Amino acid sequence: MKRDKATVPRQDEDPGAMKKRIIVLASGRGSNFQAILDALSKGSIQGTCVRLISDVPGCYATDRAKYSGVPVTVVDYRSFPSKETYEKALLFAMQECRPDLVVLAGYMRILGRDIVRSFHGKIMNIHPALLPSFPGLHAQRQAIGYGVKVAGCTVHFVDEMMDSGPIILQKCVPVLPDDDEDLLSERILHEEHRCYPYAVKLFCDGRLKIEGRIVRVL
Ligand code: GRF
Repeated sequence: MKRDKATVPRQDEDPGAMKKRIIVLASGRGSNFQAILDALSKGSIQGTCVRLISDVPGCYATDRAKYSGVPVTVVDYRSFPSKETYEKALLFAMQECRPDLVVLAGYMRILGRDIVRSFHGKIMNIHPALLPSFPGLHAQRQAIGYGVKVAGCTVHFVDEMMDSGPIILQKCVPVLPDDDEDLLSERILHEEHRCYPYAVKLFCDGRLKIEGRIVRVL
């Protein structure tokens, strides 16, 4: 049967075709994931979240995905005999989604080399400190303990080392005299929820160019 040319949009005329395919990896409460979903639903990011992948069955991020109609894949770390087999299954699940961008939003494992290489320049992470200070776990606690007067968050591309890839955006907040880890974390998180969707938007608009360690915002 002949298709009616007038009613079938061509690929390059379909606004949906221009949208980047985003997948999110999360292990916990998923508040950054939610901030990105909210920006997507407002139309401020030229993208679609095609899947949430989680290593933790039942984490709150998976509930958020379900409320928003985002398909979920759980690759339960504990059900694999080794890190290698887990990473293989995770890589397969990621590849199946054909993502333009992989967003780590509270994904609590270090991605293996094969995954990082497969999506080179396409994986982003957010860290609750001004990198390269305080990489790793409990960054806010490290900042308080060190006595810094300014803390913040960093959105960066992911390379093969922990919290070390090229920096996209940073935002600072003051550390106040009576701060404890929770108060500081809350102040930083507020900025994370603004920074991360903005970094994703820049990526989806094709405005991020990686030159070695430097990320140019075009
Ligand atoms: C955030 O503080 C983020 O910077 C860090 O993990 C935390 C995740 O929080 N990578 P949420 O799950 O997005 O609420």
